[in-house]
Amino acid sequence: MKGVILAGGSGTRLHPLTKVISKQLLPVYDKPMIYYPLTTLILAGVNEVLVITRPEDRPSFESLLGDGSQFGISISYAQQEKPAGLAQAPLIAEEFLNGEGFCLILGDNFLYGPGLGRKLQKLDSAEGATIFAYKVKDPTQYGVVELDNSGVPISIEEKPMSPKSDLAIPGLYFFDKEIVGICQNLQPSARGELEITDAIKDYMSRGKLSVQLLPIGTAWLDMGSYESLLEAGEFVHIIQARQGILIGSPETAMVSRSK
Ligand code: G1P
Repeated sequence: MKGVILAGGSGTRLHPLTKVISKQLLPVYDKPMIYYPLTTLILAGVNEVLVITRPEDRPSFESLLGDGSQFGISISYAQQEKPAGLAQAPLIAEEFLNGEGFCLILGDNFLYGPGLGRKLQKLDSAEGATIFAYKVKDPTQYGVVELDNSGVPISIEEKPMSPKSDLAIPGLYFFDKEIVGICQNLQPSARGELEITDAIKDYMSRGKLSVQLLPIGTAWLDMGSYESLLEAGEFVHIIQARQGILIGSPETAMVSRSK
């Protein structure tokens, strides 16, 4: 399967940390941030990865990750000229996707939980879209999905002031090949961005959206604020020190995937 990491954006919420360095290269305890979403993709069974960066950051990502062969995958690169929304990612990736579905992950999303890799490996991107839902105390900063009693999605809103549920949508999505055409027809939102939630709504209206609840105990953090960046680093440190394992290690992920 193919995977795309969106590692663009100006990271304004992390200034001055991100004034001269890309957010997704900042340290999260002992690894650069992008190692964590890259590891999630590898655990999901992805072998071909496209990393989308700002033009000025591309050389740094290339020297960090190279062609991916050290991790047993292939990595290529593309540029997002201006940060104009997550739904630009499928458009930038069109050539790489070559008419196939894929898994999209945001470069600042940290996911860790028992059985997550096996769960993701069962999904594929051949038909429709799959998103995840994660219970949070304050969903107002995220895409929010509302489910009916049988788990069918009935509404999706981007950063609602009065959320209809407490289920945030993490930045990990599986899309079929229709996604490129859908994103081509999107209009910018009030914040001037092409919203991935609008593309997801298109799947929902056609009955092609599946929502998987992430189990209680799963850790999902977006690392885009000072607090969440620190929390992610602390989380990695605590688990690694206690258990003597590595979290967010692409090499280790490949070994455990092959078992
Ligand atoms: C983006 C998406 C939002 C999603 C979040 C996950 O928000 O627009 O739907 O819940 O990522 O990290 P942004 O990071 O652009 O504020």
